[in-house]
Amino acid sequence: MIYPTILCGGSGTRLWPLSRQSYPKQFVPLLGDETLFQAAARRLTGPGFAAPLVLTNSDFRFIVTEQLQAAGVEPGAILIEPQGRNTAPAVLAAALTVAARDPAGVVLVAPSDHVIPDAEAFRAAVARGLAAVEAGDIVTFGITPDHPETGYGYLELAAAPEASGAPVKLARFVEKPARTAAEEMLAAGNFLWNAGIFLFRAADMIAAFETHAPELSAAVRAAVDEAVPDLGFLRLAPGPWAKAPDISVDYAVMERAENLSVVPFSAHWSDLGGWGAVLSEGARDARGVGTFGAATAIDCTDSLLRSESEGVELVGIGLENIVAVAMNDAVLVADARRTQDVKKAVDALKAKG
Ligand code: GDD
Ligand code: MG
Repeated sequence: MIYPTILCGGSGTRLWPLSRQSYPKQFVPLLGDETLFQAAARRLTGPGFAAPLVLTNSDFRFIVTEQLQAAGVEPGAILIEPQGRNTAPAVLAAALTVAARDPAGVVLVAPSDHVIPDAEAFRAAVARGLAAVEAGDIVTFGITPDHPETGYGYLELAAAPEASGAPVKLARFVEKPARTAAEEMLAAGNFLWNAGIFLFRAADMIAAFETHAPELSAAVRAAVDEAVPDLGFLRLAPGPWAKAPDISVDYAVMERAENLSVVPFSAHWSDLGGWGAVLSEGARDARGVGTFGAATAIDCTDSLLRSESEGVELVGIGLENIVAVAMNDAVLVADARRTQDVKKAVDALKAKG
């Protein structure tokens, strides 16, 4: 049985002012009626999949239950992290929880903030990965890169992929490289981007953590052993959890482990890492303009006009390559090619207090 696990404790800041610490992007209907979290939950439902495990923090627990209910997905368990410690502790907590229920259980860890429109293609890729999982590997899903992105992990293939899309052994995993290294890997041609989705036997991931991150392993094991059920949630124990280092699974395990394989994934995938991506992934008119909410575009091209506030009419005239997002309490106007710099805006606002 495959136990899908959705990570939704992150607080993506690159989609400010829509994505906030208190209501991050995975819980917002960014592209259609559904939120990214709801789309992820539905993508992971179906034959061969157990009810999904969800890992989040206390602040989001009711958003999670409401959105699952609205999407018609019954969770297997909702684990509450006392604090966000990044993805490594969350992934291990999921593996331990699954192993306790089903010692032979296979876990599929998925982020909650991605766009994968072809759910069938995704489930087929997962099915192909099972061959490598049965051989004891941790399987990642690889996307063909088209630019030297520094915000992703890179997967070095040990051999050329087959047309069948069968798993390929990984020579190396490089998380978030510097620009020059990213350019070299793109030029080399034998690298894929890490989609951030992992498939493994729970027992193999537990063993990998014991080998590569023993301190984290001990802390998370205690937090899971001492977890307390609370109104349908499972609260991980705060004392031991606080001792778990704040690190991503990519750095803690994937860069160090040797039993890795990748399943190339050729259907569309996007992590909506900024407003530029929201513009290109969303509905647009013939001139490349997306308007949402109370927004009107006059003679605009390649721009996004989005009002999230009922009281704010947003009007653009003659805009080119502009992203404008209006909330009740904040307005962003940016060059659509520079939306990665929204992070700088968030930092600047934080510094102002
Ligand atoms: N439960 C929980 N707890 N979830 C978390 C936490 C946490 O402390 N921190 C992050 N998450 C969730 C996020 O909400 C997101 O769904 C997922 O885990 C991945 O975290 P990100 O913070 O978005 O990671 P990233 O985008 O920087 O990098 C990862 O994804 C890339 C592809 O989008 C890496 O796996 C890269 O290698 C990969 O290329
Ligand atoms: Mg991400």
